[in-house]
Amino acid sequence: MDYSRKISERLWNLPDKGELESRREDTFIDDIVQKSHLEKELLSHLDGIRTVFDGGAGCGRFSILLAKHGCQVTHFDISQPMIDKAKELAEKEGVLDKIVFIKGALEDLSAFADNSFDMVISFDAPVSYTYPRQEQVIGELVRICGKRILLSVSSRLGYLPYLANPIQKNQFILDEGYGDPFVRWCVENAAEAVGAFRFQKDAVLKVWSDGLMGGEEEIAAYEGGGAPWCITYTFLPDELEGLLERCGVKNIRLAGPGAYARTIPREVLVKIMNDPKQREEFLDVCYRYDSSPYVCGMGKDNLLAVGEL
Ligand SMILES: C[S@@+](CC[C@H](N)C(=O)[O-])C[C@H]1O[C@@H](n2cnc3c(N)ncnc32)[C@H](O)[C@@H]1O
Repeated sequence: MDYSRKISERLWNLPDKGELESRREDTFIDDIVQKSHLEKELLSHLDGIRTVFDGGAGCGRFSILLAKHGCQVTHFDISQPMIDKAKELAEKEGVLDKIVFIKGALEDLSAFADNSFDMVISFDAPVSYTYPRQEQVIGELVRICGKRILLSVSSRLGYLPYLANPIQKNQFILDEGYGDPFVRWCVENAAEAVGAFRFQKDAVLKVWSDGLMGGEEEIAAYEGGGAPWCITYTFLPDELEGLLERCGVKNIRLAGPGAYARTIPREVLVKIMNDPKQREEFLDVCYRYDSSPYVCGMGKDNLLAVGEL
């Protein structure tokens, strides 16, 4: 297959990736906000849903949740370490018998018949990692879907401000003393990252027009046997909506999980997160605000689309 499979496999197959991904909400507030939004969205759309296809299901954040709510889930992912971690967590939660685990690439869904699943989900940007096949992949996800589709992809409007902020992730660190290697890296490199930073209008305009995070340098590194960050396609809201409409999806709603939290300084976010009542109320407000079409695309770096067949 094309390089998107090679890239995805090299990145997601790193031995500790499943373990790190399964602990994201322990370390980063933007991940807590995003997960809370997606959970609220999913659980309010389960009427009439028995079978679910989770494309790029990772370590099972949502496949396990849905299995616990009585769905029969097909957990599909390109990475064996991710699947292994998901199986371990599903067993702990007592839902192993509700989930079928399949290793495969989203670029090839030919094994599944039209309308095979009541609901199709693909969260936290697996579709964006299938560049240059992202449009075909969306078409295939719609084809195998019977009733309801929920996709979250990388957002171009959400990503562009990162090009003016080399320490964007620091805003969301829950506990700077936590032993996670990425947290340590963010803290230790912050001063140097700001010191070395230069705003580059050309780099912003390039991503604005081609939508690509990564590009020639990354492709060359992969071809040389390296494993840099993967090449990711970022969508504009109207582009994603148009693609889904052309595939026959109706009643499309877009949202930008993370938009509200993005406006708040770290010290305040940490305070809110450390008080259970404020945290619950804050996450509820985030969900309402981030569901507004006027902020869609601005959240963290994910753009969510929900639609019906
Ligand atoms: C950021 S994780 C999200 C996992 C999960 N959806 C969640 O929200 O917790 C992205 C997942 O997509 C998977 N992935 C990336 N490219 C893929 C592809 N072409 N086909 C299938 N899975 C892919 C990765 O292995 C990884 O598990």
